[in-house]
Amino acid sequence: MTTNPAPGPDTRAEGTTNPARGARTGPAPAPVTRAEVPAIPAPVHATRAEGRFTFTAATPLAADPALAGAAAWLRASLTPATGLPLPDRSRGSEGAGGVELRLAGGLGPEEYRLTATPESVLIEAATPAGAFYGAQTLRQLLDPAAFRRGRTGDRTWSVPAVTIADAPRYGWRGCLIDVARHFLPKNDLLRYIDLLAAHKLNVLHLHLTDDQGWRLQIRKYPRLTEVGSWRRESPLGARRHRRFDGRPHGGYYSQDDIREIVSYAADRFITIVPEIDLPGHTQAAIAAYPELGNLATPLEVRTDWGVSENVLNVADSTIAFFTDVLEEVLELFPGPYVCVGGDEVPKTQWNESVPAKERIRELGLRDADELQTWFVRHFTDYLLARGRRPLGWDELMEGGPPPGLTVGAWRGEKCATMAARAGHDVVVSPFAETYLDFRQAEGDQEPVPIGSVTSLEAVHGFDPVPGGLTEQERGRILGAQAALWTEHIDSPRLLDYMAFPRLAAFAEAVWSGGRDFEDFLGRLAVHEKRLDALGVEYRPAAGPHPWQRRPDAPGHPRTRAEIDGTLAAWTANLRF
Ligand code: ACM
Repeated sequence: MTTNPAPGPDTRAEGTTNPARGARTGPAPAPVTRAEVPAIPAPVHATRAEGRFTFTAATPLAADPALAGAAAWLRASLTPATGLPLPDRSRGSEGAGGVELRLAGGLGPEEYRLTATPESVLIEAATPAGAFYGAQTLRQLLDPAAFRRGRTGDRTWSVPAVTIADAPRYGWRGCLIDVARHFLPKNDLLRYIDLLAAHKLNVLHLHLTDDQGWRLQIRKYPRLTEVGSWRRESPLGARRHRRFDGRPHGGYYSQDDIREIVSYAADRFITIVPEIDLPGHTQAAIAAYPELGNLATPLEVRTDWGVSENVLNVADSTIAFFTDVLEEVLELFPGPYVCVGGDEVPKTQWNESVPAKERIRELGLRDADELQTWFVRHFTDYLLARGRRPLGWDELMEGGPPPGLTVGAWRGEKCATMAARAGHDVVVSPFAETYLDFRQAEGDQEPVPIGSVTSLEAVHGFDPVPGGLTEQERGRILGAQAALWTEHIDSPRLLDYMAFPRLAAFAEAVWSGGRDFEDFLGRLAVHEKRLDALGVEYRPAAGPHPWQRRPDAPGHPRTRAEIDGTLAAWTANLRF
C-alpha cells in the first residue's frame, strides 16, 4: 500500500498490478454510457440498478481508520453544499446503511469499487488514494450543486443505485502549471489542486523558475526572490507585435506557502513535482546573482517571451549554488521526482565562452550538447544519491542522457520513442497535443491565439503511447501531462478558460482512455454544471464570452502543418 499516488520507488515494487508501470494491458473496457453514470473521467465499468440511495440528516459516514483522510475530505466537501452532517459511525457498529469506506484487498493502488443500493453506499479500496477516487466519483453521482461551497436551498440529495469498478489507465496523470511566466497566487493554486483532484489527476508539475521570474523563496539566496520574482513589464500578446504593457508583474511562494501547498496537495493524493529549470531559462536567477551568467554586463529579469540566450555558466561555484538551491527544494518537496529542466538551451554563449570551451577540452567532450549533459548530470546524480528521481526535458537526450533520468518528452513521439528505447522512463507531453496554451479553435476571437488548434476532441482522443514500441518499452511510458504554459495566460480567469473543458478531456484520456467523444460530450453537459458550481470560467462550446476575448493582446496562430514542420526541424538530427 502506498500513500503516494505518483509512480515512485515504493509503488513500483508492487509489480504488474501497479498502474504506475504504464498502460493497462488486456482488452479495452466497454465504453460507459452517460445514461449509466455521467462521471468524468468515465469509470472503467459501471452498471446501473433499480432505485436510488437517498441521504438524510441521519445518514452516517463510516471509514476504516486507514481511509479516514478520504472520509474527512468527503465530509468537508459535501457538508457545506448539502447541509448533510454525515455523522461519524465507526465501522461495524449497529445501524446498517449510510456511506462506508472500506479497506479491501486485491485492488490496485488507485483502484476502487463503488456500490450504491437504495440502502447504502459502499466504497472499497486497498489504499487511501483509491478510497479518495471513490469519494470523488460519489460526489459526481450527486446533483452538480454538491460542488458548491454553500447551500442554495432545500433539496433531496440522492445517488443512483450503481456498481462501479474503476482504476486508472496510467499512474502518471499530470498537469504542468507555469507559475514563472505569470505568477499564480497561492489561493488560486490551491483551487487548481482541488480541480486536478476532482478530475483524478495526481501530479502537479510546478514550473517554478524561468527567465521571466523566480517564484520560490530560497533562504540561502534571498535575492532570487528579492530581485528575481518580478519584472518591469510584460509583452502584450505574441512577441512579434512588440507591444508591452508597461506594468510590473511578480510574486513568489514563501517556504511556508510551499509547505502548505504540498500538504494540501498530498491530502488530495497529488504529488508536486518542482521544476528548477537548468541551465537555460535562468535569466531571472542571473539578474539576481550576475556571477551565475556568462556576460560581464548586468541583466534584468526578462521582459520578453521566447528563448533567452542568457544561460548559466559552467563554473564550479554555479554548480555549488544550484546544489544549495536543490538542497532547499528537497526539504520542501518530499515527492520522488524533481525536474531539472534542460530544455531550450541556446549554446551561443558557451560556444563563445573561454571557460566553457576549456571545460569541453579538459573533459574531452564532443561539443556544447555534451557539456550540457555534463552540467546537468551533477544535479541528476545528486538527486539519485538523495533517493530522488530526476526528471528532465527531452533535449537532454542530445548530449547523451544522464543515467537514471526520467524523460519529459515534449517534442513529439520521436523523442518519447527514443527515450523509451534508450531504457528511460518517460512522461509524455507532446506540445501539439497536450499544451493547453495552444488555441482551442479557429478564429480570431480566441484569447491570445497561439500555436495550432488543440481541440477538445483531439485532447480527448490523445493516446500517450507512441506506436511501434515493444511491450517492454510501452511499460516505460509512465503516463502523460497536460501543460498550462502562461506567457499568454496572465490571470486565473484566463487560466480557467484555457484549461477547461480540455483538462477534463485530458483526464479522461489518461484515466479511462478516451474512446467515445460523443458520449464524453453528453457527460460534459452535466460536468459543465459542476464546473459552474465550482466557479470555473471554462470556454463555452460556442466560443468565448465577449469578456473572455483579448483584442488588446494579438496572438500568432499557426497551422498544424507549420507546427509539424517546426517539430520535424527540431528533431531531424536526433538518431536512435
Ligand atoms: C518546453 O516546452 N520547453 C518543455
